[in-house]
Amino acid sequence: MNITLDKIDFGKLEQSVVFLYGDEVSNRSLPFKKEELAYLANRRVEDNESTVIFNRLPHKIYVKNFDSEKPNNETLENLRRAAADIHKMLTDEKIECVAVTGEGVIPEEVVAFVEGLHMADYKFDKYKTKKDGHIKEVVVSQHILENKDLTENVNLWRRIDVCRDWVNEPVMYLNAPKFADIIAAEAKKVGNVKCTVLEQRKIESLKMGGLLAVNRGSEDEARFVVLEYKPANRLNKKPIALVGKGVMYDTGGLNIKPNDYMTEMKSDMAGAATMASALFAAAENHLPVYLMAFLPMTDNRPGKNAYAADDILTMYDGTTVEITNTDAEGRLLLADAIAYADQQDPELIIDAATLTGAAVRTFGTGAIAVMQQDADKYYNLLSIMGNQVYERLAPLPFWKEYDKMLKSNVADMINCNLNSQAGTITAGRFLAHFAHHPYIHLDIAGVAYYGKPESFYGVGASGYGIRLLYAFFQTYEATR
Ligand code: BES
Ligand code: ZN
Ligand code: ZN
Repeated sequence: MNITLDKIDFGKLEQSVVFLYGDEVSNRSLPFKKEELAYLANRRVEDNESTVIFNRLPHKIYVKNFDSEKPNNETLENLRRAAADIHKMLTDEKIECVAVTGEGVIPEEVVAFVEGLHMADYKFDKYKTKKDGHIKEVVVSQHILENKDLTENVNLWRRIDVCRDWVNEPVMYLNAPKFADIIAAEAKKVGNVKCTVLEQRKIESLKMGGLLAVNRGSEDEARFVVLEYKPANRLNKKPIALVGKGVMYDTGGLNIKPNDYMTEMKSDMAGAATMASALFAAAENHLPVYLMAFLPMTDNRPGKNAYAADDILTMYDGTTVEITNTDAEGRLLLADAIAYADQQDPELIIDAATLTGAAVRTFGTGAIAVMQQDADKYYNLLSIMGNQVYERLAPLPFWKEYDKMLKSNVADMINCNLNSQAGTITAGRFLAHFAHHPYIHLDIAGVAYYGKPESFYGVGASGYGIRLLYAFFQTYEATR
């Protein structure tokens, strides 16, 4: 989707138009006749949500009124969702070019609408021989937006698209070595990001026991990708360390996932994809924050030398772990990555992982389960930004008393408690063992991938969390 700024001439319409209005539409509003204004005023009283369509054949005007009285973040989210509905109306009509303008709207509201339109337009259709409809051109009225705001947002939205492509790609085309190569190529393209790919031999010499164990059943090598974006005008001396779960496919390993529990597990690398994408977006827009990303990658398979329950691993930091279930694999590679990140003396560690089915059962599809340790001020900002962009954080207790559920008789810890109590918290507690700096854990299992369409997030990979992290970086100064 190509988005540009231009004048919109209602005298001779060159394309269909979406007209947004927050308050009454005044008489000055050129595209409407008196009768139409009266009709709109009526409809506004009767039904505050619907879209009214006026024919200006061969074009149409989609008039969307919204409640500008609601709290700002809700208004914006409603506009994103409205954009998804209108996207469907437009593509049903095979409309490929549309202008967006309005009255009584602020730039933020128009950005939210176009954001929704852009995200709704994403489809993973590269393997479809017959493509679905897309909107190719969006012209935003130049009296509402400035070029630099649009460019910054378009960069961010393109990153969300790319992330969704990575997560949607089946493992047969995207294994760990390939994903590492793609990220390295992307870093080169972005320019101001340094990328280091640790290959199998290096991972072995570093003794990353968690990542290596999960990789043992795989035909493919593991990778550990490190990204660094270090701008000259950075606010933070020490980096923010972003850690992302990169399980390219999660079969469960020898504790193999039963029947249809395995489907969609190509999305188990969404944490790594999200973190890389958030860092690239920050770098492309030259945000003044020092970021590093640590991305451990492998698939989890029951190959002939696969790790097994009862194995005892020695992790990168020396901790020993008794395996109770090979399907609790994410925390093993994340533990090594967190310990490795921890050695860089970061200001803050944030991880993102499709870690537990329990997070999906607890919070459903509209919230990230969050836990934190010694990171109040960062967590507070992140949570505020979550409300603002509507990718919201749902906190869980993170008490050390939960650690006893991870006690092992033969090693320092077990990887997973088998009584299925507090599954999301104990997974987080396992990870917290490896972090000795302020730490925020994001379990994105409920939001990273949607089996059914979710408004402007669509179906499949959602890119959920990138806008959240980007907003956090944008406002990071508030933590100084
Ligand atoms: N990748 C899964 C978690 C998951 C499940 C993400 C469903 C998205 C949707 C993870 O590796 C896993 O298998 N977790 C197990 C842990 C269990 C063995 C303690 C789970 O949640 O069932
Ligand atoms: Zn698993
Ligand atoms: Zn997993």
